[in-house]
Amino acid sequence: MTEKQGQSPETLSGRRMNRRDFLKIGGAGLAGAALLGVAGCGGGGGSSEGGSGDIVFAMGPDTSGSLQKLIDKFNKENKGKYSVKYREMPTDTGQFFDKIRTQFQSGGGDIDVIGGDVIWPAQFAANGWILDVSDQLPDNERNKFLEGPIASMTYEGKLYGIPWYTDAGMLYYRKDLLEESGFNEAPKTWDELKEMATKVAEDSGTKAGFVWQASQYEGGVVDGLEYINSYGGKVLDDNDASKVVIDSPESVEGLAMAASMIADGVSPQAVTNYTEQESQTSFLNGEAVFCRNWPYMYALVGNPDESKIKPEQVSVAPLPAGSAGSVSGLGGWNFYINAASQKTEAAIAFAKFMAEPAQQKYRALNGSFLPTLKSLYEDKEILDAVPVIALAGEALANTIPRPVSPAYSDMSLKMAEQFNRAFKGDVSPEEAVKTLQTELQQIADQAS
Ligand code: GLC
Repeated sequence: MTEKQGQSPETLSGRRMNRRDFLKIGGAGLAGAALLGVAGCGGGGGSSEGGSGDIVFAMGPDTSGSLQKLIDKFNKENKGKYSVKYREMPTDTGQFFDKIRTQFQSGGGDIDVIGGDVIWPAQFAANGWILDVSDQLPDNERNKFLEGPIASMTYEGKLYGIPWYTDAGMLYYRKDLLEESGFNEAPKTWDELKEMATKVAEDSGTKAGFVWQASQYEGGVVDGLEYINSYGGKVLDDNDASKVVIDSPESVEGLAMAASMIADGVSPQAVTNYTEQESQTSFLNGEAVFCRNWPYMYALVGNPDESKIKPEQVSVAPLPAGSAGSVSGLGGWNFYINAASQKTEAAIAFAKFMAEPAQQKYRALNGSFLPTLKSLYEDKEILDAVPVIALAGEALANTIPRPVSPAYSDMSLKMAEQFNRAFKGDVSPEEAVKTLQTELQQIADQAS
């Protein structure tokens, strides 16, 4: 329904949706009625009674500074009732996941609510580690959120999280340098990007043409899949999720394009060790013409402590297209309630507070985080102040999620390894997808 997630990339080709299209497809009731202020939002699970309302919230570092402010607001409004402590977790989603999984495996740990990656719920739910929160968001409330985040948290028909913010890969570029080289708009295809990046870097003496996330970790998987999906390659069969179909000419084409960025010198060899942070540093230091990153980086461009370049030098565009169109990886972070928590009432109250329009809007304005509430894509203040959000509305229509599977974390480790080897040129794209075909199918078979 809403986004084209899960649809075959062929149908994505050519046409780009405008924001209205995107909202229409979502069947968005944009009434903007008070959200989540529903009655009966008490504890969500058996263990909600007992214990004080002091809870631990686990989340990675927040470079925007907006998170602690909202926690303070919640604590003030709920004084004497609930209080939230923010426990900072690793930036790297894989390391964060490992820590949480270890706690869950050893009996739950002391974390009550997790600000967790969109790729985790299937695995956590299958193991009974997080609460089914279906009752917390009845249909009329659920409809107010984008379909992608809801779909990613739905496992065997039940909802396992409260939506927070979503993410879509975007292309950042140096508008000023492009103009100096005679280009008035962003590249539309990966081939165009290669040409433009090479020329502009040369003309302007900029160190790198294009920086992105090619390191061996989850972000490398996202980037690799963006290339693969944009040529029509897929990991799992659309109609049968137990069938791995990554070994295809389309996947090879996508990975070959990625590897050629490095082999042809458009991207420095060093990107094979870049995560979001290194890409960001390079771009914000003025050392790269193009950068693939998530919307959060836009807020940092406007912060002189973080960035040597200014907002007026930067523009954002959808990622370039392969033969099957432009595809952004679907990312995002949501709230998952630890099933072993003794304080689920407070945990749910906090998650719901953070999902409310006012809090989502604050994070949009102060951190360029993409709201999960459809209505905020019509909010003039946000659209005027944060152009990346206006644009991301389009990118969201062209997102493809990573496989939703209780075995995803194992699959991801294999993809991270093979993609990185292919990016470096240590294996050919053909070998990489052949290896993955066998490895991923084994994992899928064991999981079923
Ligand atoms: C972003 C995305 C998340 C993804 C991660 C990879 O944080 O929101 O979904 O897994 O990047 O580095």
